Amino acid sequence: MLKCHAMMRPQISQVMKQGVNAIAGGHIAIRQSSDLPKLPAPQPVKTLKHFLDFAQALQSKKEFEETKQLVNEFVVKDMPKLQELLQKRADALPNWLTPWWLNIAYLAARTPLPVVTSPGVMFPKFDFNTEAGQLEYAAKISQAAVKFYLLAKSNQLKPDMSGKSPLDMSQYQFLFGTTRVPKIGVDEIRYGCDYKEKLQHIVVIRNGHLFRVQILDNNDQPLSVSAITQQLQKVVAESQTPNPHPVGIVSSDGRDKWANVYTTLKKDNQNAKSLEAVEKALFVVCLDKASEPPLGYTEKDEQSRQALHGGGSKVNSCNRWFDKTIQFVIGTNGYTGMTYEHTPAEGPPVGALMDYICDQFDANAFIDNGSSSSSDVQRLDISTNEEVNKRIAKSSKNMDRTAEDLDIVAFTFKPYGKNFPKSSKISPDSYIQMAYQLAFYRIHSSLPPTYETATLRKFTEGRTENIRSPNTAAATFVKKMVSKPPSPVSDIYDALIHATNSHKKYTVDCMNASGMDRHLLAWKLIASENNLPTPEIFGSNIYQQLNHFQVSTSQVPTRHFIQMCFGPSSLDCYGICYNPQETELHFMISTFKSYGSTSSKKFAKELQKALIDMKSVINKATKEMSKL
Ligand code: COA
Repeated sequence: MLKCHAMMRPQISQVMKQGVNAIAGGHIAIRQSSDLPKLPAPQPVKTLKHFLDFAQALQSKKEFEETKQLVNEFVVKDMPKLQELLQKRADALPNWLTPWWLNIAYLAARTPLPVVTSPGVMFPKFDFNTEAGQLEYAAKISQAAVKFYLLAKSNQLKPDMSGKSPLDMSQYQFLFGTTRVPKIGVDEIRYGCDYKEKLQHIVVIRNGHLFRVQILDNNDQPLSVSAITQQLQKVVAESQTPNPHPVGIVSSDGRDKWANVYTTLKKDNQNAKSLEAVEKALFVVCLDKASEPPLGYTEKDEQSRQALHGGGSKVNSCNRWFDKTIQFVIGTNGYTGMTYEHTPAEGPPVGALMDYICDQFDANAFIDNGSSSSSDVQRLDISTNEEVNKRIAKSSKNMDRTAEDLDIVAFTFKPYGKNFPKSSKISPDSYIQMAYQLAFYRIHSSLPPTYETATLRKFTEGRTENIRSPNTAAATFVKKMVSKPPSPVSDIYDALIHATNSHKKYTVDCMNASGMDRHLLAWKLIASENNLPTPEIFGSNIYQQLNHFQVSTSQVPTRHFIQMCFGPSSLDCYGICYNPQETELHFMISTFKSYGSTSSKKFAKELQKALIDMKSVINKATKEMSKL
């Protein structure tokens, strides 16, 4: 039986440093093939053309001549054999990329899950600010989520589409009952859909104590809201004081450290039973204590901190289990959200789950027949020794440092939404990406290698490609926008249209398996797997530069006001998750304070300015053109 898979933003460079041999083979088997096409091997000519275009945008003339030389040598010396091997792999597997990607982007990465790998997601503010409200909303969110689980399990969800193309829906099956198990070197992913037995419980964490709570009855029907609430009340009664040894905090630390602790814990029979109950829980619900935004930050910013990391060990970070795919985090003040472990799925299926839960609230569609729960809440005790307790203390400090270091702000651009670029016949996504380029350039006087997630779900088991920026068209646009003396407005407008069209064209390429990044990665991995010399191109400065992302972005659109967020993929990077709506644009922007030269608020300010200036260029140019 084959197993399921994953993807995401770049932990890749970190794993590459560990050496590709460790991860290239992987232990990932493939689950099922759908009716969707197999991912084809990309065409070398297209990939190398893109490589040159992206390189030229960042290089001087002299450097670019050297890059051309490097590419020419690669084409003659290494490429034919590597492409032949890749073609064989593409013929043999339902998806040549996904098993590799699952390991590289996730399971082999040894870095902590929060705050870069595991995104936070935020619900709109709900209407409660008491503990009773917290339990009612926790019960309702849990029931709605479990209804969604049943729909996904029985393949009743309407297929997602990209235009007229249906998308692979397997990620929805992987969201529930799934856990990433820490292992030395490479973690293991255990999917809920692989268990033969029925999964009928969730785990609730409060004050760092864990409890098993029944959520489905023996007929696989969701328990009523009152039955769930009663169980949550028992959880509250049994968790009045903080757990002195909240071992879940170690799941926020480096993966090898957690793997060592996990192995030690599992040696004890009672612990093994508790951990198994966590692994097999459909999802986790964290009943959090109240938290306040740090000085200078808004309630919305604080909500994102709770969803991403829990605010540090003194606040709610000890009330988490970061290995679980889904953790709903529910405060006492109406702010709720989710921390999600990224291995099994991309943002859009998670966004769809959150949208569904909001729909259930809008329609008040909860099952509540007043029935009481017949099952007992079960405390999941985990006993620790001195060594583990020391690790808990160290992991708490590490989490506190990260929470303190992350500068994350919610920014909503209100003057217009995607309606404006659409009315100007420009792709909103491409338009927003150009605004990032301009905002960054105005702050740092250079162009940032930029990551943007593109879905590959048109293909069976598809995950993602990178719609990389800037290319030469984007570079020209930005330089014209900032040039002194100013370029004529018609020139800037032409450059903007060319840059956005070029970005859109590359987006379409990426979504149709003709992107550059994963193809280069494939050549590198396949050389390593076959003990071939690493081609020179992969040791070049330009390859290193292209893979050091200074802006890391993902678009996650939702119908309700739901925002996703994540940390920057490296110290000097901006992490931006965005949700363009028709009349306004929502951004979550993150940076690390310790870098010193980046600032989330400053970027938000420059982004606002860039978006206003770009509209002004379009308006002026179209006015001029209308006079002709
Ligand atoms: N003129 C007028 N309208 C246009 C246009 C143009 N030139 N180009 C696009 N539009 C319209 C589209 O028809 C669409 O209309 P809609 O709002 O009615 O649906 C809208 O503008 C948005 O299109 P666009 O901005 O081009 O982007 P997209 O919605 O196609 O999304 C990606 C682009 C890359 C984000 C998307 O394809 C993708 O891959 N998403 C998945 C990303 C992901 O996995 N993220 C999570 C990672 S954790």
